[in-house]
Amino acid sequence: MSSNRQKTSVDCGFDDLRPRIEQALTQACSFGNGCPDRLGEAMSYALLAPGKRLRPALVMMAAECCGGSMEDAMPGAVAVEMIHAYSLIHDDLPAMDDDDLRRGRPTVHIKYDEATAILAGDGLLAEAFAHLSQHITDPSKAIEAIRALSLAAGASHLVGGQADDLAAEQDTKLPAPIPPKTAGCQDDTLDWSELIDFPRLQHLESIHRRKTGALFSVSLDLGAMLVDANDRQRQWLSSYAAAIGLAFQVVDDLLDYTAEATTLGKRTGKDADRGKLTYPGLLGLDGARQKAQELVASAHRDADKFGDSGRRLRLLADFVLERSH
Ligand code: IPE
Ligand code: IPE
Ligand code: MG
Ligand code: MG
Ligand code: MG
Repeated sequence: MSSNRQKTSVDCGFDDLRPRIEQALTQACSFGNGCPDRLGEAMSYALLAPGKRLRPALVMMAAECCGGSMEDAMPGAVAVEMIHAYSLIHDDLPAMDDDDLRRGRPTVHIKYDEATAILAGDGLLAEAFAHLSQHITDPSKAIEAIRALSLAAGASHLVGGQADDLAAEQDTKLPAPIPPKTAGCQDDTLDWSELIDFPRLQHLESIHRRKTGALFSVSLDLGAMLVDANDRQRQWLSSYAAAIGLAFQVVDDLLDYTAEATTLGKRTGKDADRGKLTYPGLLGLDGARQKAQELVASAHRDADKFGDSGRRLRLLADFVLERSH
C-alpha cells in the first residue's frame, strides 16, 4: 500500500529535501535512557512513518526564500513534524476519530495499544520543545521558536480546533448537517448557494484554521524567524500560510469523499459516517473544490512576491490542490 502512495505525477517542489528531512527525523529518535523501549518504538513508528513531510518542508522553504540556510531551520522542521505526528496519534484514538489506518499502516493504538499511543503522543509533544531548546543555539531565537510553536499547538489553535471539530459532530443546537449522501453526490439540480449555512461555514473555517492551519502558519514562521527574515517577508509568508493551511484541510475533506484508502493511506468516507462538519458537507464537492482553488490562487499571489525564490512555494501550493494522498 505504501508504494502506491508514493506514486504521484504532481511535483510537490521539495522531493530533493526529503532525504535531509528523513535523516534529521531519524537522528531525533533517541529519546534518552529513561525512555522504555516500547514507548520509544511507538514514538519512532509514528514519527518515521511515510508522511508527506509538508510541514518540515515548509520550514525549510521559508528559510530558503528569505535568503537563509535551510540547515539553520532544521530544528524547526523536526519539531513541527513531531507535533504533527503527536496530533495524528491522538486524532486517530478511539475517543477521537477512531481510525485504524494511517500512512498506509495500522495506527499507533492498533499496532501497540491505547495507553502506549496516548503516551507516545505525549512524548512527542514534549520532545518537540526539547528539540528546539537543544538545537537552536541562540537562546532568544530558541525562546521565540518555542513560544510560536507552543501557541500554534495549544488550546486556542491546534487543540482548540480539534476540540471544536469533535464538538461539531454532536452539535444539536445548530441545524442538522446536510446528509452525507446529498453532500457527496453530483446532482446538477441542487443549487448549493441556496443551501449554504453561513454561520456554520464560518465556524467550520475557524475549526480548520485552528486544527490544521495553525501548524502550517507556524512552519513558515519558524523557517523565517530562524534565518532572521525581515517583517515584509514574514508578512508575505503569513498570508501564504493562511491560504494553503485552509486549502489543505478543504482538500483533506474532499479526499475523504473521493479518494481510495489504498491511495490515501487512511480510511475514507469516515467524515460523513461520523457526521463531521466539512467543506463538501456544507458546499458540495464542486463548491469545496472551488474554495480550494481560490485559496491556492491567493497563495500563488503571495509566493510571486518572492520572485524566483518563491518557485517552491508555488509548486507546493499546486500540490496541495492536486494531491491524491
Ligand atoms: C493529515 O495531514 C492531517 C491533516 C491535517 C489533514 P497530512 O496529510 O499532512 O499527513 P501526512 O503527514 O502526510 O501523513
Ligand atoms: C486532523 O484532521 C487535524 C489534526 C490536527 C490531526 P482530520 O481528522 O481530518 O485528519 P485525518 O483525515 O484523520 O488525517
Ligand atoms: Mg480529526
Ligand atoms: Mg482524523
Ligand atoms: Mg480528514
